[in-house]
Amino acid sequence: MTDQRLSVSKLENEIVAETRLSMVDGEAGRLIIAGKSLDALAEESTYAETALRLARAARGRMEDPDPDDIETFDRRLGQARRDAFEHLGEQGTFSVLRLQDDPMDALKVAMSTLPVKDEHEATAALAMGVAAVAAAAWSRPDANLKALRPDPELSHPADYLRLVRGGEPTAQEVRALETYLMSVSDHGMNASTFTARVIASTESDLGSALVGAIGALKGPLHGGAPGPVLDMLDAIGSPDDAEEWIAERLAAGERIMGMGHRVYQVRDPRATAFESALSLLGQQPETQGRLELARAVEAEAERQLAEAYPDRSLQANVEFYTAVLLEAVGLPRDLFTPTFAVGRCAGWSAHVLEQGIHGRLIRPKATYVG
Ligand code: COA
Repeated sequence: MTDQRLSVSKLENEIVAETRLSMVDGEAGRLIIAGKSLDALAEESTYAETALRLARAARGRMEDPDPDDIETFDRRLGQARRDAFEHLGEQGTFSVLRLQDDPMDALKVAMSTLPVKDEHEATAALAMGVAAVAAAAWSRPDANLKALRPDPELSHPADYLRLVRGGEPTAQEVRALETYLMSVSDHGMNASTFTARVIASTESDLGSALVGAIGALKGPLHGGAPGPVLDMLDAIGSPDDAEEWIAERLAAGERIMGMGHRVYQVRDPRATAFESALSLLGQQPETQGRLELARAVEAEAERQLAEAYPDRSLQANVEFYTAVLLEAVGLPRDLFTPTFAVGRCAGWSAHVLEQGIHGRLIRPKATYVG
């Protein structure tokens, strides 16, 4: 027996596809989603527009959608939430969802019920509805699981918040969540997107690709970090204690959640977008306090990581301010990663379509050393 470690490729810097869906410039800290920069999205777009852009870009259509098309797509998403509610009810899925300890497992259950043979656009819209309805249904606190009926008149972020919390959200809360969902709708060839494309490359169905993608996103190195970021902020408690807390964790060889990124060598631009969105909600004293603590912890973590790893640039990633933003709009901690999936559904579905149009079976090789 030998315990010699095997070399496993991380496919780092390997180009595995051309895509029209998003561009991540890790050195400049720039993100473009379906032809529009993150700054422009955060300033003037909606989730419906971004999802429509992604669906069109997968078919090679990069022109700006006109307002009527965006409105039609927004209504389609509303109808998809309604359809998802009926569909999950008919399948008896709601009661199975609640049996799952982990909401990401609940999402996998829900996605696995998607129809296999319907045309892609219809299933992709239904999948976005299923993600929002299933995540919200899982979190409903009462044991009888009284999942609320979606309101197709509301925007996707507004209805999602209503389905989770039960009351009408404020315009500022909706805009903050809208910024979040748009910003995470796609992000290059990340692990869950690659998983979805690998599954799509076998000509399997969209539901299977989404189940796989959700499984990949669940991991703490991908989408599972925002809950732990809040745990960390809770444990630190006050800006004055950040230095000691972080030093102890680093000395123990632990990773600081929400810091570092495989692609970005600078601060993740999504962290910046969320920080600005949070300033909209900043009038609430709890949000203000959280934001101040988060900024202090980020600065301290960045300083100590720079000392510990002078050759790397370990700065705040998307998860850091995700935690603060999603808490500020009133989402419970265990819904943070599922909410990421709600936003990313648009990108995953578009990648599955793009892979289907242009791709071929993805089948790398391994060197046998046994
Ligand atoms: N805290 C402490 N050390 C960190 C760190 C962090 N957040 N991120 C990276 N490092 C260290 C690693 O331990 C490694 O040290 P080593 O060479 O002594 O083993 C070194 O920096 C290089 O890290 P590496 O593993 O090459 O980085 P990566 O590109 O594989 O990792 C992440 C990227 C995101 C997985 C990593 O930064 C991480 O684990 N961050 C925390 C989890 C997180 O926020 N995930 C959400 C990602 S969006």
